[in-house]
Amino acid sequence: MIYLDNAATSFPKPERVYMEMTRCLRHYCANPGRGGHTMSLEAGRAVTNARVKISSFFNIKDPMRLCFTKNATEALNIAIKGGLGPGGHVITTCMEHNSVMRPLKTLEKDFGIIFTIIEGNEFGEIDPDDIKKSIRRNTTMIISTLSSNVNGIVMPVQDIGGIAREAGIVFLLDASQGAGSIFIDVEQLKVDLLAFSGHKGLLGPQGTGGIYVREGIKLRCLCEGGTGSNSESLYQPEFMPDYFESGTLNTPGIVGLCQGIEFIKEKSIGKIRNHKHKLTLRLLEGIKEIKGSRVYSSLEMSGNSGIAAVNLDGFDSTEISLILDREFKIATRAGFHCAPIAHRKLGTLDKGIVRFSPGYFNTVYEIDFVIKALKKISQKSM
Ligand SMILES: Cc1ncc(COP(=O)(O)O)c(C=O)c1O
Repeated sequence: MIYLDNAATSFPKPERVYMEMTRCLRHYCANPGRGGHTMSLEAGRAVTNARVKISSFFNIKDPMRLCFTKNATEALNIAIKGGLGPGGHVITTCMEHNSVMRPLKTLEKDFGIIFTIIEGNEFGEIDPDDIKKSIRRNTTMIISTLSSNVNGIVMPVQDIGGIAREAGIVFLLDASQGAGSIFIDVEQLKVDLLAFSGHKGLLGPQGTGGIYVREGIKLRCLCEGGTGSNSESLYQPEFMPDYFESGTLNTPGIVGLCQGIEFIKEKSIGKIRNHKHKLTLRLLEGIKEIKGSRVYSSLEMSGNSGIAAVNLDGFDSTEISLILDREFKIATRAGFHCAPIAHRKLGTLDKGIVRFSPGYFNTVYEIDFVIKALKKISQKSM
């Protein structure tokens, strides 16, 4: 199988991820922070170690401000539903995932919040000036994806963060796409809330993600329960990270994620990015040569996190993906990728898009095989 669906979840994981998860499950997977016995303490230390290392990866000064979640969706719900109230106005972009749009639509329906969607250029990249112009007296949050999961376009998040900070508005960055191959420094980017998936570019296992909440930002807690702290109290502890970490943590997942990030640090973000860019560009250039192909991703790699979004005339995207899988053993994702507003922007609401998302473990040989497969498929429509 040639796996080119790393934007959905990365595969394979680095060997050290499998090793540490197995070691954890076999030797120290007690409940962290829930007991005084040796194994529980060891599990607790492993979680703390991961929290410190992952914080340092994003330049989060206080690791206690980083909470583990089961994915980016949970992190985004915590930030959006916990941070917005009636009467607020939000600014967001035309390339957001449904894990941003659906919580916003729910709040619009239930509390009448208002939001402005900034339209972008042909690839969906927005102009930060349009954000500036859309700020109102009651704007309380600006939400942007780091990179689109549909076509890989990278947003000007440095500028967006600057605009938000200057206006005193909370900036929520969805780093689900791009983390692991784009350098993220929450201080430099002036990020107030950072939501991320652990299982995509960060190379951790499924069931992992996190949210960083900058000191001074208050969010309501959406899920109260046992935290192993203040157990005599009927009220949720208000200190971090316990405030957002009710229930038993995913210890094997968290230590696996930590190893994914250690792998990235060892290889370096630059090396991983260059490899993904080399493969993505080769793929896009090859596909462009195919008669009847359409390309929706930028060939300018500095503005593409590593996604080739394409279609072939005469086919529905799901048909192409199915043929790639069944006849050529190539894994891609077709359809709407949980981002209908991005498809509206790209004009693909009728047939979706075939998304190729190479990862660090893909090879040039695999990419060339994919181009040949697409050529053969395109000839079927003639
Ligand atoms: C841009 C973006 N945001 C959020 C998510 C949700 O991530 P998760 O599956 O970790 O909840 C995804 C998943 O594809 C995504 O691409």
